[in-house]
Amino acid sequence: MSPLRTVKGPEHARILSVGGYRPARVVTNDEICERIDSTDEWIRERTGIISRRFAAPDESVVDMAVAAAGKAIAQAGIAAEQVGAVLLATVTHPLQTPSAAVDVAYRLGATNAGAFDISAACAGFCYGVTTANDMVRGGTAEYVVVIGVEKLSDFTDSYDRSSAFIFGDGAGAVVIGSSPEPGIAPTIWGSDGSQYDAITQRASWIDVRDHNVDFPHLTMQGQKVFRWAVWQMAPVAARALEAAGVAPEDLGAFIPHQANMRIIDAMIKTLKLPAHVPVARDIAETGNTSAASVPLAMERMLETGQAKSGDTALLIGFGAGLTYAAQVVVLP
Ligand SMILES: CC(C)(COP(=O)(O)OP(=O)(O)OC[C@H]1O[C@@H](n2cnc3c(N)ncnc32)[C@H](O)[C@@H]1OP(=O)(O)O)[C@@H](O)C(=O)NCCC(=O)NCCS
Repeated sequence: MSPLRTVKGPEHARILSVGGYRPARVVTNDEICERIDSTDEWIRERTGIISRRFAAPDESVVDMAVAAAGKAIAQAGIAAEQVGAVLLATVTHPLQTPSAAVDVAYRLGATNAGAFDISAACAGFCYGVTTANDMVRGGTAEYVVVIGVEKLSDFTDSYDRSSAFIFGDGAGAVVIGSSPEPGIAPTIWGSDGSQYDAITQRASWIDVRDHNVDFPHLTMQGQKVFRWAVWQMAPVAARALEAAGVAPEDLGAFIPHQANMRIIDAMIKTLKLPAHVPVARDIAETGNTSAASVPLAMERMLETGQAKSGDTALLIGFGAGLTYAAQVVVLP
């Protein structure tokens, strides 16, 4: 017989709070068009983006993450020492190691927290939510901070006509802890490595070292990603609704990854989402902030009264990998 003891946590977990951080500098489409052959009109029509925020040169992924997570911890009414884990989803932390999460945990005063980064691009936050849910329910941590943060302005080629207009910077964070009732329904997730090159860094760091190639900016095959998102992601969202036992008409909010307004509209149609269900459209003034997009959109919907605490919301993240994850949650 095994001599080991194990732990078990509470039966249910939920998102207790959300906090966002938007950098001060607003970048208009006209400013983007100073470096690419495009127009404000084209960008608005093809993506729904009117403006995005760029972090200051000396403002890091860690700075933005600390600001968002600090807000979420304060709103949850807990002390940083009570946080058992910090999960940070990003693809734009500029150091291979150590992780951004470790620095964030230190700066938050989360002295009892395990900390690590999640590399799942735009699906990273939703990957973090399901991991945190299992950590709380499994007894690994009482409270888990999940952060999505990006400084995409550092990794986007501002002269690349096929991607320069889409990305923005920002951070969003939630605290996940125990709940008397189910607060996070089963996650439908996956990955498709056959499309590894659809959104990728142009070259590896080894190429930069050995072959003298330029800084490896992100590159994106827009049409390929667009088609995949439109055709493959609505069924994933539908499966998440089914797994939660929630009908589309009973949803309190739909908070999809803010990739492109046209992708959001196509998903609404395929899901047959009734018009009374509010949909996050934060992309208009935030751009695509990859891992940060879902928590930032969630915060904005709650702040503006579009959605209320206690409502059910369908979340879905999808992006480079390709990766995807969807779940229905109760809003904090
Ligand atoms: C990037 C994206 C907006 C491009 O839109 P699109 O409609 O697919 O654009 P296409 O590449 O098919 O090009 C269509 C036309 O616009 C032109 N065009 C491309 N980029 C342009 C730009 N920045 N400004 C103006 N015109 C542009 C093309 O030259 C082409 O012109 P043509 O018809 O005369 O040949 C779109 O593919 C997209 O949003 N994809 C998904 C991206 C995404 O979500 N990424 C994040 C995933 S997490």
